[in-house]
Amino acid sequence: ALGASYPQEAVTPRRTARPLDEVTPSIAGPGEFHNAADTDPSVTEHRTWAQRIVAGDEHRPVQVAEVTTEAEVDDVVARAARAAEIWSQVAPATRAAALRAVARRLEEARTALVTAMVHEPRKTVAEADPEVTEAIDFANYYARSAEQLEEIDGATFAPRGVTLVTPPWNFPVAIPVGGILAALAAGSPAIAKPAPPTPRCLEVAVDAIHLGLLDAARDAAESGADTAFDEQLARDVVQYARVPDGDLGKRLVTHDGIARVVLTGALETAQMFAEWTPERHLFAETSGKNALVVTPAADIDLAVADLVRAAFGHAGQKCSAASLGILVGSVADLRTRTGRRFRTQLVDAVRSLRVGPSTDLGTVMNPLTEPASGKLLRALTTLEPGEQWLVRPRRLDEEGRVWTPGLKTGVAPGSFFHTTEVFGPVLGLMTAATLDDALELQNAVAFGLTGGIHSLDRSEIDHWLDRVEVGNAYINRHITGAIVQRQSFGGWKASAVGPGAKAGGPNYVPELGEWADGADVP
Ligand code: SER
Repeated sequence: ALGASYPQEAVTPRRTARPLDEVTPSIAGPGEFHNAADTDPSVTEHRTWAQRIVAGDEHRPVQVAEVTTEAEVDDVVARAARAAEIWSQVAPATRAAALRAVARRLEEARTALVTAMVHEPRKTVAEADPEVTEAIDFANYYARSAEQLEEIDGATFAPRGVTLVTPPWNFPVAIPVGGILAALAAGSPAIAKPAPPTPRCLEVAVDAIHLGLLDAARDAAESGADTAFDEQLARDVVQYARVPDGDLGKRLVTHDGIARVVLTGALETAQMFAEWTPERHLFAETSGKNALVVTPAADIDLAVADLVRAAFGHAGQKCSAASLGILVGSVADLRTRTGRRFRTQLVDAVRSLRVGPSTDLGTVMNPLTEPASGKLLRALTTLEPGEQWLVRPRRLDEEGRVWTPGLKTGVAPGSFFHTTEVFGPVLGLMTAATLDDALELQNAVAFGLTGGIHSLDRSEIDHWLDRVEVGNAYINRHITGAIVQRQSFGGWKASAVGPGAKAGGPNYVPELGEWADGADVP
């Protein structure tokens, strides 16, 4: 039955135990972090602001030249290594103050950051703006993590050294900013290498980080607290290195001077890095094949809205996206009222998604960052045995970037679409007779990143929560857009390589450091 022969079964999960941080249920109660723009005084003002962004007046071309020689790669690492010696001596409280200064500068850079995201990876303003908030949340949260390190016996925790941060293009601001600032909090310098499609996004982010660090350096000099924290250190402790993939990229990743590699990217990239670098160096969050289970006890309106949001936000180009809806019992049965209602609402909702350029404020689903190819093109253009289109995707441009969303039913257990991450705007439906059958389908993939359940029955929720094999388990909520601290974010099974601490959670900064033998991560 299930479990026998999936295309990805060769991918052996590294851990059998749950990740370091417990699976994070989404109903953790109120917190102080937001991941949503709640600062706008009025809708009108917000609209004017968004219009400035889409006009792109402030969108400048990439300013920083690519690193083109081996000597330049070596030079970046050497500068970071010198910074490592000094930064590791800077007190955790000063590091925390620096991160808070960075948070303020990121807020000032909000418009520039959103503009870069609208024009480079083609995010909508509605998707890009919360990403800036998430980056700011990371800064304030990791500042607190730095302070907590001070409370730990200093003899057991030591900074690890130069940390290389290689982010993906789909979250080109929040993910690198989180990685860079976590490294700084842990007492290590960071080298950030942008994903090739999004150099400008990272450049603007690193500019803001530098401004914050310069503010903090000035404060440290004035108070005489940390005289080693000068302008030079502020520049060298975070370096933007636009190193192309290929030989130079490999030289950077495998450089002797790099102590830690924080990678967020496809599983294939993580596997390549794992071959290149010692295992203890790599800290990776990879792919996902994520499902949202809908039981007959669900609020159907809510389930449809959350499924659509999680599947088609940023055109499905999220490792966290819902790619599968697993319908339990009557939800899948068109002979029942629940089944018909769910089907009609879902089809209508998918058809209603307004597709267009990210520079059109009316757009709900943006184009792809890069033209569809490979697995995604297969998912957009082919039906596997047993599948049927409920909403057939259409290509609207020559290049293959602009697609209408796709919805298919009849995805078969063990099939290509059941087990493969496609990273784009296609949602597939599967059916299950019982919740346990749904769990079997959900857990039968190699990945374990996000997953959700829609049910108003507490015993169903608890049953599912005990058994689902994902790092982030969401209850009656869409399954993307994890909120710092409330939903620390990370994978399980093949979705993570390394210690499994989750971004925006309590173990992330401690895990980026070095622990004396026998010491436990708090
Ligand atoms: N943190 C993002 C999310 O939760 C994915 O990287 O959607």
